[in-house]
Amino acid sequence: MRKPRPIHTVIEPFRIKSVEPIRMTTPEEREQKIVEAHYNVFLLDARDVLIDLLTDSGTGAMSAGQWAGIMRGDESYAGSDSFYRFRDAVQDITGLKHVIPTHQGRAAEKILFTTVCRPGDVIPNNTHFDTTRANIEFTGATALDLPGAAGRDHSSRAPFKGDMDVEALDRLLADPPGRVPLCMITVTNNSGGGQPVSMANIRAVAEVCRKHEVPLYLDACRFAENAFFIQQREEGYAGTPLIEIAREMFSYCDGATMSAKKDGMANIGGFLATNDDALAAQEKDLLILTEGFPTYGGLAGRDLEAVAIGLYEALDPDYQRYRIASTAYLGNHISEHGVPIVQPPGGHAIYIDAAAMLPHVPPLEFPGISLTVELYREAGIRGVEIGSVMFGAKDPKTGEPVPARSELVRLAIPRRVYTQSHVDYVVEAILNVYDRREEMGGYRITYEPPFLRHFTAHFEPIG
Ligand code: F0G
Repeated sequence: MRKPRPIHTVIEPFRIKSVEPIRMTTPEEREQKIVEAHYNVFLLDARDVLIDLLTDSGTGAMSAGQWAGIMRGDESYAGSDSFYRFRDAVQDITGLKHVIPTHQGRAAEKILFTTVCRPGDVIPNNTHFDTTRANIEFTGATALDLPGAAGRDHSSRAPFKGDMDVEALDRLLADPPGRVPLCMITVTNNSGGGQPVSMANIRAVAEVCRKHEVPLYLDACRFAENAFFIQQREEGYAGTPLIEIAREMFSYCDGATMSAKKDGMANIGGFLATNDDALAAQEKDLLILTEGFPTYGGLAGRDLEAVAIGLYEALDPDYQRYRIASTAYLGNHISEHGVPIVQPPGGHAIYIDAAAMLPHVPPLEFPGISLTVELYREAGIRGVEIGSVMFGAKDPKTGEPVPARSELVRLAIPRRVYTQSHVDYVVEAILNVYDRREEMGGYRITYEPPFLRHFTAHFEPIG
């Protein structure tokens, strides 16, 4: 008898019940659209984009189970069944006592930091996401990034480049420049290249926090992807179900913020959770002021249902295997042909190192903008610059522009939306752009708003 031969192809673990057409455009149309958008892909209309990799947030496809849940949504103002199903799901996975629904992640951040922060406080994190940083700084506190050494090296293939620098945290907490009302860890580390955090690191950070009596919070947006990386890469977890890994991650924490637009597999939603009774009461008071009654928090009952179901779907091992394999497929194919990316490929996105790809374009001529424009021109693909447009600063003394630490272009993968042939198309397009990289030039800003300029700035090509 022939020995059964295993099949290695990782497939999309779903079939398609409903389709959404995407529109092909001609190179001439795209040229006109990108000029009209002042070379800023945020200003393109979605109908003119073929493959939209701007974000993995709220852009996923919901399952038949979630749509069925939506029909069951209980829209009662107070005490709806949908809230209890949502609360039970969050408690089951996180073990956290108080569950406060919010309309998305930044609303949870706003309520948390408004409640705990005072001017002069310091909030450490492996790397703050930009809304987290902005919500902390809005209270007059300082958002401090303490990434580990491997996380700062784009080419290192270390397995857990999202880890926090535990010694730096210990030093900070022993002699903080201000009060530290809480410490955060972001899983996976989005701003640090979508890289995972190990269980050992979460445990070590929790010990340091406990020693200094500082509560630990998880920014849990991509908790299920992080759990999958722990299962694949960390000793002792190979046979552990993802839900148990997730429960252990949360067990070291005193609270969490969550954008359910990521691993909640929903198009909107989030939550704030805590074990602290007094804090939860204060947070609910603020929630009533800004989001809604504590059993809906700015969401419809149907949204709560979609999240309650989605949180479990994100922990399905077949789904995670496909998710991480398809992101790696994109990253590995372009990197094999020489395109420099943040290694190893992350969970939700591939980050192309535009500074390494376009060494002839100086940081302040925005190589990331050059690359996003060219990907759109080539194939209607939309990525996002994460470099000196998004994070560049001004020297406080001279007013001269200061470049960011790196010049990346993020290609974020929406959940359950694109198939392998879409990804093959993206690979081909990137390689075509890579082949003509020496012809690509820089850009200058012709208009910028006072804050968050990347969303609305205008550019023009130099030369
Ligand atoms: N924390 C992290 C790590 C995030 O990636 C995001 C959102 C948030 C918090 C805020 O959540 O959007 O629901 O208010 N990230 C999206 C992105 C926007 O494109 O990476 P939100």
